[in-house]
Formats: sequence, structure tokens, C-alpha cells
Amino acid sequence: MRSSMVRELLKLTARPEVISFAGGLPGADLFPVDRFRDACRRVLDVHGAQALQYSTTEGELPLREMIARHTSRYGIGVTPDHVLITSGSQQALDLIGKVFLNPGDHVLVERPTYLGALQAWNAYQAEYLPVEIDEQGMRADDLESALRSGPKFIYALPNFQNPTGVTLSLERRNALIRTADRYGVPILEDDPYGQLRYEGEHLSSLVTLDADYRGLASDSYSGNVLYLSTFSKTLAPGLRLGWIIGPLDVIRRLAQAKQGADLHTSTFVQLVAYEVARSGFLDQHVRRLRSAYMTRRDAMLAAMATHFPAGVRWTNPAGGLFVWATLPESMNAGDLLRTALAERVAFVPGAAFFPDGSGANTMRLNFTNASVAQIDEGIGRLGRVLRRTV
Ligand SMILES: Cc1ncc(COP(=O)(O)O)c(C=O)c1O
Repeated sequence: MRSSMVRELLKLTARPEVISFAGGLPGADLFPVDRFRDACRRVLDVHGAQALQYSTTEGELPLREMIARHTSRYGIGVTPDHVLITSGSQQALDLIGKVFLNPGDHVLVERPTYLGALQAWNAYQAEYLPVEIDEQGMRADDLESALRSGPKFIYALPNFQNPTGVTLSLERRNALIRTADRYGVPILEDDPYGQLRYEGEHLSSLVTLDADYRGLASDSYSGNVLYLSTFSKTLAPGLRLGWIIGPLDVIRRLAQAKQGADLHTSTFVQLVAYEVARSGFLDQHVRRLRSAYMTRRDAMLAAMATHFPAGVRWTNPAGGLFVWATLPESMNAGDLLRTALAERVAFVPGAAFFPDGSGANTMRLNFTNASVAQIDEGIGRLGRVLRRTV
């Protein structure tokens, strides 16, 4: 394990004068603080002793029931027994590494992919089979040849992928399910952003399509996909609350691994999150987020079109938190970050998201934790830096 130079530079983005598009942060101004205050009081008044006591590794039943109900509305047979509560989906990634990966095992990943997954699995000495993505997501031609090398599992981010914002098309989702089945390779679907769609139709998750493909629609789910999600982007990342949905035998193994890691996720936090989310509040809150984030996304795309020089390309995300920009080949986004920080604006250089360390000319920009005015100003500053360098 090592701390990268970029990580050290990114510490400077916390300075108040810097407009930072670097972190994967949801909008702090939109956290439902009042609802949390009331929920904390209610949990302590009504379930005080339970909330402060040890609990089961699998997680609090009412919360697992809520998650199972929510997932089942898309038409798959998920019960609370299919749900394991984790301390953020980051812990889910770690537990999956612990259970599935031996040193030297390969994981098939998108190129680029979520940096936190690489960090989790590097600790288990995983190696990677990167598959190129385009504006429709993972490319089918590349997928087959990577599968022939025998990965342990496929790590897929179908909705508004971190870092690129790209979404896997329905056609490719179905092809991925069929091809993975043909090669007998399980899929890990990581979906923190699926609820945060700003335009277009909701696309079925891989776990739902897999259940359809196997004719399991209302049976107890026993297919080929492990599904991860989290409250980090829809409620608050400070909760550290995520979940895994999967076949019962896999959930049992992962629960054993979790027991050895932290016994269970905070009882108090689980009860508070349940209390906050219930009675339709979460759906209502997500609608509010969608509207606010769409405005911020549009502001960022418009500012980029105004301020960025010719030769820079970027994605057009239909949801999520990120825009991904590609600079001319000769440019290095890591070097550029230094200059950008001097101009009091920050982003994440893209190379960290490539398992092979390529992608030096790419950058990830977060649009959800800044106001429209900050986005205009920050992208203006970044545009000046780019125009001086291109
Ligand atoms: C794709 C992906 N997976 C997992 C995580 C970790 O989320 P959590 O806060 O639930 O640990 C993130 C956070 O940004 C993410 O983007």
C-alpha cells in the first residue's frame, strides 16, 4: 500500500479559497439535517437501549426489510436474508476481496474504474483485466477477450460510472449477463448512483436482468450477480452505510468475513437511517437531489463549453456526480493540478482510475458539491489554466 503524490496534493484542496471539483462529494447543503435530528431523538426515545447495544452482523431487520422491499419493486425475489448491511459499500468491496481473491487472481474491470475498488483489492494482491469503455459503457469485443483470461469476477459500474459518468446501455447489459454466464464468471454490480438520474429512462440493474434471464423473476434470488449500493449519495456519506444483495450462500460467507472485520455496522446509525428514510422520505429527498444536481450538472457543462479550449473533450453524464474530461495526448493532468491549485481550483487527475497507470491526459470533475456560482467561477479558472497550457 502506498499514498500517492496526487493524494498529497489533494489535501491542499481543503483550503477554503480553493473551489474543489475533486472529491466524490454529494452536496453538503442538501443534507436533511432536521430530519436526522428528529430521527436521532426518536431512536433514543423509543429504542434507546437497543440502539446502543451490540447487534447482529447481517444488520437491523427493519432496514434490511426496507432495502429488500425497495429492490423487489424492480421485480426480483429479494428477502431480508439476501441483504447484508455493510459499513459503506467500500467495506463491501473489501469483504468481497477477502472472500473471493487469492494473490495473483484477476478481476475484470472497466478502464477507467473506481479507484476505491482498486485500493481495496490491491491489498489482496489482485491483478486486473481492463476492458475499454465508450459512451455506451464496457465494450463487448474487449469483454470476450478479457473473459478468456479467466477473471475471478467482473466489476461493473452500470449507472453514471465513477469516474467517467458513462452509463452501460440496455443492449450491452443484456449481452454482459449472457456472456458472463457463458464463461461462468460472476458479476459484481456497484450501483451507488442509480437513483440519481437527471434525464432519460431508468435502465434495469444487472441483478434484475440476470433474474429475468434465468427465469427467477419472483423466486429467491440465486443468480450470477452480487449487487452493491449505499446511502452515501442519497442520504449522507458520513453514515458509512451500504449493503450487498446476493444469493443466500454468498451472503452467509460475506457475513462471516464481516464478523471478523467489525462484528457489525453501528446499530445506532442503522436505526437512525431507517427512521430518516421511512414513510417515503427517502424517495422524496432523492427527487429533490435530482432536481438540484441536474441544475449543477447543466451549469458545469455550459461553463466547460464556454471556457475550455478546443482539443479538450468531455462526457455528457445522464446522472451521478461526475464529468470526465480528456485533454490532448501530450498533456499531463497531474502537472496541471499544481498550476490549477495556484489558481485556487482543483480536480482529480484521471490516471489513478486506470489500473495500468495510463490516462495521464484525463481528469474527473465533481459537480454536486458546489453552487452554480462556484461552478461558473471554478470552471472559468480551470479554463484559463488550460488555455495557457494547450
Ligand atoms: C463506485 C463506488 N463504489 C463505492 C463507493 C464507496 O461508497 P461508500 O461511501 O458507500 O463506502 C463509491 C464512493 O464514491 C463509489 O463511487
